[in-house]
Amino acid sequence: MDLQRTEIMVPLRMLLVLSLILSSSLCLNQNVPLTVVEKQSEIVLPAPHVTGDMSVEEALKKRRSVRDFQDTPLTLDQISQLLWAGQGITEGFKRSAPSAGATYPLTLYVVVGDPGVEGLGAGIYEYVPTSNVLRLIKEGDYRDRLAVACLTQLFIEDAPVSIVIVAKYEKTTARYGERGIRYVHMEAGHVGENIYLQAEGLALGTVAVGAFIDQDVQQVLSIPEELTPLYVMPVGYPR
Ligand SMILES: Cc1cc2nc3c(=O)[nH]c(=O)nc-3n(C[C@H](O)[C@H](O)[C@H](O)COP(=O)(O)O)c2cc1C
Repeated sequence: MDLQRTEIMVPLRMLLVLSLILSSSLCLNQNVPLTVVEKQSEIVLPAPHVTGDMSVEEALKKRRSVRDFQDTPLTLDQISQLLWAGQGITEGFKRSAPSAGATYPLTLYVVVGDPGVEGLGAGIYEYVPTSNVLRLIKEGDYRDRLAVACLTQLFIEDAPVSIVIVAKYEKTTARYGERGIRYVHMEAGHVGENIYLQAEGLALGTVAVGAFIDQDVQQVLSIPEELTPLYVMPVGYPR
């Protein structure tokens, strides 16, 4: 009797497993359009240039904070270059800016105006260094709200784009404890200076803005509390 029951149970179990496999593969098929939508919201950036017209010395000499911008949009090439200078992959998994223990706690967000970058809709984007893509967070021109979040520094509204340097402290403090906080701030300085110098090299201007209400910038970017904005860097052609 027991043997018979086992004999019936085995095919039943197999049927169950088969139906699970079938239903999960159907689910995968249902996910196909979603995947396409995800791909559409990822913009592959042009490959960065590793040579330029201006020497590091010249860029250092010319670098000045700019707070008066033309409304001319940037090109996709220019925004790609600026993001690469800040956090781009340069060798293996390593990036353009040094990072304590290669823990890489920083992420760059881009607030794109209307029009901010040729061929790119207004919106909030996250730069993904490993795949050199911009991931759309949300559509819309948020420059006015960003300027207000930065204590109404209105030049932020005029700049076609702003790059926001955001930290996830845990990535570095998990290894270095409290001292990791210091390391993260140092790293933001490196990234900021790289963006300053690259902007010079592209005949663009920027300014490192540290005066803002953290929670308000977080709201503009739609990022969670554990991500702390450290710098807002409006970029554009100097007027
Ligand atoms: C940590 C930090 C925070 C800053 N915050 C602001 C800011 O909120 N608004 C602003 O207009 N400039 C800001 N600046 C830019 C400085 O005002 C600027 O670097 C300084 O006046 C020197 O001018 P230079 O950058 O042209 O050499 C900041 C700079 C640093 C390093």
